[in-house]
Order: sequence, then structure tokens, then C-alpha cells
Amino acid sequence: MSFDAHYISEKVFQPSLPFKENAVVNTDDLYQEADQDRMEFWNKQAQKLEWIKPWEATCEWNKPFAKWFVNGKLNASVNCIDRHLETKKDKIALQWEGENGLERNITYKELSQHVNQLSNVLRNQLSVKKGDRVTLYMPLIPELVFAVLACARIGAIHSVVFGGFSAESLKDRVQDSDSKLVITADGGSRRGKILNLKNIVDEALDNNEHHVENVLVVKHAHNDCHWEEGRDVDYQTSMEKESAECKAEVMDSEDPLFILYTSGTTGKPKGILHTTGGYLTHATYSTKVVFDLKDDDVYWCTADIGWITGHTYLTYGPLSNGATVFMYEGTPDYPDQGIFWKLIEKYKISIMYTAPTAIRSFMKWGDHIPAKYDLSSLRLLGSVGEPINPEAWTWYYTHIGNNNCPIVDTWWQTETGGIMISTLPGLHNMKPGYAGKPLPGISADICDHKDASVQKGGGLLSLTEPWPSMARGIWGDNERFKEVYWSQLDSYFTGDGAIRDKDGYIMVLGRVDDVINIAGHRIGTMEVESSLVDCDKVAEAAVVGVQDEIKGQALLAFVILKKDTVETDELKYELKQFVSKKISPIAKPKFIVFTEDLPKTRSGKIMRRLLKAIALNQEVGDTTSLANPGIVSELRERFKKEKKESIPQI
Ligand code: PRX
Repeated sequence: MSFDAHYISEKVFQPSLPFKENAVVNTDDLYQEADQDRMEFWNKQAQKLEWIKPWEATCEWNKPFAKWFVNGKLNASVNCIDRHLETKKDKIALQWEGENGLERNITYKELSQHVNQLSNVLRNQLSVKKGDRVTLYMPLIPELVFAVLACARIGAIHSVVFGGFSAESLKDRVQDSDSKLVITADGGSRRGKILNLKNIVDEALDNNEHHVENVLVVKHAHNDCHWEEGRDVDYQTSMEKESAECKAEVMDSEDPLFILYTSGTTGKPKGILHTTGGYLTHATYSTKVVFDLKDDDVYWCTADIGWITGHTYLTYGPLSNGATVFMYEGTPDYPDQGIFWKLIEKYKISIMYTAPTAIRSFMKWGDHIPAKYDLSSLRLLGSVGEPINPEAWTWYYTHIGNNNCPIVDTWWQTETGGIMISTLPGLHNMKPGYAGKPLPGISADICDHKDASVQKGGGLLSLTEPWPSMARGIWGDNERFKEVYWSQLDSYFTGDGAIRDKDGYIMVLGRVDDVINIAGHRIGTMEVESSLVDCDKVAEAAVVGVQDEIKGQALLAFVILKKDTVETDELKYELKQFVSKKISPIAKPKFIVFTEDLPKTRSGKIMRRLLKAIALNQEVGDTTSLANPGIVSELRERFKKEKKESIPQI
């Protein structure tokens, strides 16, 4: 990719004086502390958690494997629940609203009861032990939070799979993690329809290639579903048999807490592994300082728990801080395009954390929609998942924040566990398009391909010192972990390109590898290519990213069909559905271009660089090494035609 800044904007915004005065952080003391003694800084953050046994060393760094808070013992669910019971037992921990308008308020005491009972179900009825893997495939309902925390309580490793993934994607993740149990629901609500999650689980488990002994089913949508006697277990009846007290497992700081699958540059998603003490330390600290979290806030992170944002900033971070967390099951456009603002008005939400894709959709739907609601409870806004263009930033600031709420543009990844780069809202000025600076305790740099620090212009974003919530590996594949993240530069390579301005503010420009960011979700082009060639009509496929006005990026697939297969619009539609069913609707190509050939070197290697240039309508440069130079203009024409003719599909 080129390192041109697409979003340079000269404007600088300041937090208001009252915001500054009352902010959790309004001096640069934290930066100074961290600069003077990074280890002591992290010790101080870890001390804010409740430990069963203190650690003996802060960090053992055996690149690329880190151990943090070595030999310390703690339990994440105790930190998110039990330690608040003395002072906050009647405080609302979770405020939930279903797509059908159903409301649930759960206090910290009730959260404790649910999680303890469920922990007992897992331990006593389903024989789940410390270290066992449990896959959670659920809608965004309080039971998903209970399940995450119950796993943490008994030391089981949770692997949450987003409810939008297909049976095949679920099967791959269940098998790779070798899960013993799947927790699901009969169904979830999606724009007025019921998504039958249980059927998808049944399909994923309809083979002999897994070790799942039980499926625990929450009756949420009350839709009919197949019931497998001996394997399927009803959530509610099991809960009724158990007491609300379950002794938490003593976990080593480095015991695994969860696996979360994310797409990479190969065909197979990677199970990113996070452990207990370091992850929770950073989740707790970063939630507090970046979101300026106070005791009376009502905090809403709109992400699903199927993604890392929902792990760190819907569940562990805010609950460990004893916050009131709002959760909404539905989408921003159902029952109408004002639902998010209606919820903010109704629940008096004070902090909102969402993605640029959503903001761009709100912009498109019109200012008049949020203008109908009282959004005066808001005091801080956040953005995550992809670069936010200054137009969207400014719209968010003006129409949602009423020119009065600081925006934190937070850069991080599944692998980093928590926010790495952001402004601190009571301390820094904001520059639309720039995420800001590395948080106190985090070190980042921008390097060229030879690992030298780049001061002017763009380069590769890297994190140069270990941090507590860093991934501890890829589940079952440490070689791949080393190769993907630690072989290109001397330090951790993020896969992103970035630039830095004179004040040290970092603007993240996007991925420099073959990962595409669609609506803030990562999809590997190889994953989509292998799914396309699984279709018996496809001989070869090459997939690249194109710009998309709302979703940031979308997928363009060049497809060579098998001999005698006729190129039709119906087949394009079929192929899109095929990918959607195989991976997820998120991975569905927006454009399919049929072709008889692809730009290849004389040795037969596809020149992806040229396909990317065609997708972005850029000059292709030197094509002399091509076996078939004419193909470039041919594909350009075909893509132009496709763009004109294709009917947008959601
Ligand atoms: O390309 C960056 C982009 O999202 C990628 C990480 O994706 P994932 O692991 O799914 O986690 C998303 C939520 C943390 C990054 O490599 N990204 C994330 N936040 C930003 C961003 N790009 C620009 N600005 C951001 N604030």
C-alpha cells in the first residue's frame, strides 16, 4: 500500500474545561511514571486488581513469548463481580434491551447469582474442568456475559464465536479449539426475524470430528429446534438445580482466559490466545483512562461479544471497574433508524463506543434522525475497528456529541487485547483521523521495511515493548505466531500502515497485508478464495479489497470458471451466497468479475499487486514480467462494467 494520508485534516478540537477538570486523567503524570519505570507502572496497574497471591516478577520476556505478573494468582470473574459486592451489590451491572423491546436490569448481586449458578452447572452437571475449552455461540443476551464469566470462574477457556458465522466456520472453530461443550441459544433476533442458532450448531456438530459432549441451550427466542437427547441440555432447568455459590478456581496469572478466532493472511482463522492477569490488568486500566469511566456512568459499547471489542470493553474492562454496562441485542436500523438514539435517551447513556461503519450509515440516513432525541446524557464518544475519516468524525462530534463530547479514536487489535493508541480525553486535543499517542505503558513506532524508525512519512506500525495484554500465541500453532507477527520486524508487527505527525499523533491508514477490513471486521482474502474454489464450478479465484463508502472496504473477487460453465448473473449471485453460507455474510464479495485469466508471472504466480491496483483504480506500473500483459486492461474494463451493472446486495 502507499502511505499517503487519505484523511489529513487541519482541525484540532479541545475537550471542554469542565470535562478536563473532572477527568480521570488530566495531567501527563501517567506518561512520566511509565517513562521513568515501565515495570513499576504496570505493577501499579495490576495492584488495582484483587489477587489471591501476589506476583513475584512483573514480566519475563522471552521474545515473542511474554509472562506477566509471574506466579501471581487471581480469578477474572472474582475481579469482575465478587470484589464489588460489598459496596455495589445493588448497582446495575447489566442493562439489557432485546430487539423486541424486552428489558432486563441485572444488579451486581444478581450477576453474581447467575454466574455462580452457571459455574456450578458447568462443573457439576457437565463436568467442565479447568483448562477445558467451551465454545459460546450465542446472541447478544445477558446469558452470554454469564457464560463468559462462568468459564472464567471455573478456569475453562472460552472461545466465543460470533453468531453471524456459518455452521462450517463454527465447526472449524469448535474443532480447532477441541471444545468439550458448546453453549448456544435456540435463536436470536435479527431485524424482526429469528436466526435459529441451535440449528446451525446441530449442523456444525453433525460429524465425528469433534469432542463436544454437550450443548447447553438457552431458551431465548422460543423457536422450535431439534433436540438431541443425551447431548442437549436445557439451561434454565439445569440452573434451577444449582446453588448461587461456586468457589472460584485459583488461576495462575498466565493461565489461559480465552481464545478468540480472527482472520489472517492464510486460509484458516487463527485462535488468538489471551491469559488472565496481564489481560485483565490492561482491560481494567485502559477502560478507566480512555473512557474516563466514573461510578455513575452508563456505558454502552455497541460491539458484539463475538469480537475482541465485546470481550475487553463490553465485558471484562467495564465490569472489572464496577460499571453499569448497557447491552442491546439488535441492529442500528431496526425497528427504525432512530433506535440507537432512542436507547441513549431512554437509558441516559453517558459513554458510547461504536464503529466508523455505523457512524457513516447514520450520516447517510440523515441528521434529522438523531435530532429528534435527547442525547444530552452523552459525555464521551468512542470509535474503533477501522480508520475514521474526518467527515464521519466531525458528524459524530456535531450531531451526536453536540460539539461537547470528546471523541476517543482507539486503535488496537484482537492480538493486542486492549487499546494501544488513543488520546486521553481529559488531557489531549483531538485531531480527526488521528488515533493519538500510545497509551502510558505502551511503546509504538513506525518503521520502514528494514526496521528503521521512520520520522517523516509513512511506514509499518509496530509495538516495540511487551505489554501485559499481548497475545500469548496462536492456539496450537506457535510457529505461525512467530512467523506472522515477529519475523518481519525486530518488534511486534501489527499488519497496519501508519503515519505520525509533529506532535507524535499516529494516524493508522489500514492493513498492509492481505487482510481486508469490512465494516470493522477482519476477513482474510485467502479465506474467501479457498471458499470460492470449494464451489465445484470455480477453477480459480483471486480476491482483493475495494473502497466502500459505508463499510470502509468491500471484496472484489476475480473468478475463473471451470470449462463449460456459463458466466451468468445468477451464478454471480450463487457464488456470493456460497461464500456467505460457508464463512459468514460479512465475507460475501460485493463484486464478482468472471475472467478467463489472471495476471500471472511466467512461473504462474498471480500478481496480486496488479489486482489491487485495478481494484483501487491506480496505475499498475511495470508489467513486463507478466506472461499475459493484456489481461490488466481487460480486467479493468470488466470491473468497470461490473461496478456499473451490479445491484448492491446487503
Ligand atoms: O487495521 C486495524 C483496524 O482493525 C484491525 C484489528 O482488527 P480486529 O483484530 O478485528 O480488532 C478490531 C477491534 C479492536 C487493525 O489491525 N483498526 C482497529 N482500530 C482502528 C483500526 N484502524 C484505524 N483506526 C482505528 N482506531
